[in-house]
Amino acid sequence: MNAVAAQTKVGFDDTILAQGREISRRLNQLRIENFPPDAKKTLRQFSLAEAAYFLGVSTSNLKKLHLEGKGVEPTVHAGGRRSYSAEQIRELRRWLDQNGRSEVKKYVPSRRGNEKLQVIAVVNFKGGSGKTTTAAHLGQHLALTGHRVLSIDLDPQASLSALYGIQPELDHYLSIYEAIRYDDSRAPISTLIRPTNFPDLDIVPASLELQEYEYDTPLAMQKGNEGKLFFNRIVNALDEVDARYDVVVLDCPPQLGYLTLTALSAATSVLITVHPQMLDLMSMSQFLLMLGDIIKTVKQAGGDVDLDWFRYLITRYEPTDLPQAQMVGFMQSMLTPQMLKNEMLKSTAISDAGLTKQTLYEVERSAMNRATYDRAMESMEAVNSEIRELIHEAWGRIK
Ligand SMILES: Nc1ncnc2c1ncn2[C@@H]1O[C@H](COP(=O)(O)OP(=O)(O)OP(=O)(O)O)[C@@H](O)[C@H]1O
Ligand SMILES: [Mg+2]
Repeated sequence: MNAVAAQTKVGFDDTILAQGREISRRLNQLRIENFPPDAKKTLRQFSLAEAAYFLGVSTSNLKKLHLEGKGVEPTVHAGGRRSYSAEQIRELRRWLDQNGRSEVKKYVPSRRGNEKLQVIAVVNFKGGSGKTTTAAHLGQHLALTGHRVLSIDLDPQASLSALYGIQPELDHYLSIYEAIRYDDSRAPISTLIRPTNFPDLDIVPASLELQEYEYDTPLAMQKGNEGKLFFNRIVNALDEVDARYDVVVLDCPPQLGYLTLTALSAATSVLITVHPQMLDLMSMSQFLLMLGDIIKTVKQAGGDVDLDWFRYLITRYEPTDLPQAQMVGFMQSMLTPQMLKNEMLKSTAISDAGLTKQTLYEVERSAMNRATYDRAMESMEAVNSEIRELIHEAWGRIK
């Protein structure tokens, strides 16, 4: 190497290190200004119509309960409009089961008997295919409809953690890495769980450190059995909290590494998110080919990916865009048994909410164009309800 080349090399690493540190410092400053570490995310109230919808009762029945002074006392606004907190919706669910005639607890849908913990992995190695948006909204939908949900952020970029109001770097929260690391510092997953602003929805955050798992695993595999059985690490970690939850949602990183493989081995079902465009579909086909081969190797090593169901979910769909509509038709012709019937539409309501680290369930409808919000919410609910039904079917419940 000549002197000039060596100088360029030294210059590059030193420069990017300094710039990386500077960006991180300034971003942290910005984040502290916009969202102080001690600021807790709050949650808006839900309208009577929303509360009735999540509970699965008619609006007139919910109104009647209030008029008769039963259940909970909603906030009554000027003009008589009623609103409920998520905690009140949760309380009403229990009240309806206790005071209903039915023996079966139909308002609290928690698993019972032999129904096993559902672990849903959201995957695809294509960046930006909507994994985190899907995982975030699904977790909140399941919690609002009465399920006990644990979301686990497996992406070192920690986007889901941020969306759920957690900033591992700032808040010094421990990440899921602590539960799957190979050394003696491993911690039980119960010590890593954080509540969110939604009742019944907890999260185990991610952090950049999680990337270490990708380097640790091949080393551990050389050392012995613990590494060779890497695919059991999330399964084993979840064992401890199995009884506390109905559903676990795993948000995977955009790569087909050991984190994604470990997630898939823990999964009882898989959602593959795909944006209906040629390049995305080509990338997904590569993903499927590689994944299929890797799973075969994992099986030879004694692991398995044993799923109740898996589905492709079309994301950020614009039905008026002809090439996209054609791509959806193309996918349906090949993948139909595994395609979710409902697609997630592209909407500024979702991307705008994301700008302030919020989801559709968190933003106020009145703060947006109502028609835009309603269209997005309708699409989101159609997707999430379809997934909820798949979960209940996996439990053997008849629709
Ligand atoms: N239905 C949608 N309508 C509009 N914008 C969307 C929609 N779904 C996702 N987005 C936006 O697209 C971007 C990428 O989405 P998201 O972060 O969910 O993808 P991802 O697959 O998790 O990405 P990564 O691979 O980086 O983890 C985000 O800015 C998000 O707000
Ligand atoms: Mg993501």
